[in-house]
Amino acid sequence: MENQKRCSVRLLVFPGSLREGSLNDKLATLAASIAEQKGATVERAVMSDFECPAYDMDVELSAGIPAGAQTLHDKLISVDGFMIASPEYNASMSGVLKNTIDWVSRFRPQPIHGNQAFLMAASTSMTGGKVGLWALRQPLEHLGARTYPDMFALAQAHHAFDQTGRIADAKLQVWFESTIECFIDLVEASKHYPHLKKQWVEFLGERPDDETARVEMGETAAV
Ligand SMILES: Cc1cc2nc3c(=O)[nH]c(=O)nc-3n(C[C@H](O)[C@H](O)[C@H](O)COP(=O)(O)O)c2cc1C
Repeated sequence: MENQKRCSVRLLVFPGSLREGSLNDKLATLAASIAEQKGATVERAVMSDFECPAYDMDVELSAGIPAGAQTLHDKLISVDGFMIASPEYNASMSGVLKNTIDWVSRFRPQPIHGNQAFLMAASTSMTGGKVGLWALRQPLEHLGARTYPDMFALAQAHHAFDQTGRIADAKLQVWFESTIECFIDLVEASKHYPHLKKQWVEFLGERPDDETARVEMGETAAV
């Protein structure tokens, strides 16, 4: 697709690691530059932008939702999709990322619902963090994200980047670029077919009320 023909696609790109020198931050930087080349408008963030205390409902009730979660909420509602580069810790996502997702899930309307998501990982291991991405899919899909089927897991990431920040293996670099372009195509298509993303029912059988309030219906749906 020629970039000048693309309608506006806005993406938030961030890593799930706080670490300076994070390999996932590196992968997020590369993904952001590819997405821009493919015609998207990119908002780049780092995990420390979304700093939150450990989730505690007592804290939520007494002090409200913390500023870090508010920042992520505000960014999520201003974009058409988001891309996370998530480290794998013990076959799951980083605790800090899950904690922030838990806080953000407390907003109503809930801002992950209906958002397009692309998941990637960089790990020093041979599996590239792929198992952690399957774990990350679960809370995101539970919250109604439209999670792109293909995920990108960069194995032995401490050896994988060249001096310019691209993936040294040319075939992997091309695959990463084309996967991101396909994701952006889908995000663009979803803007033309918005009915794909109207309903969110967290628990089937639940009815919206003040206590649970975890159902969001499109305006055309019969409740
Ligand atoms: C507590 C801990 C658990 C880890 N568990 C896994 C794991 O299960 N699978 C894996 O591929 N890498 C694992 N790693 C390696 C990380 O993926 C690797 O350190 C990676 O570079 C972290 O991401 P970052 O560079 O973005 O901070 C683990 C690292 C730590 C510190």
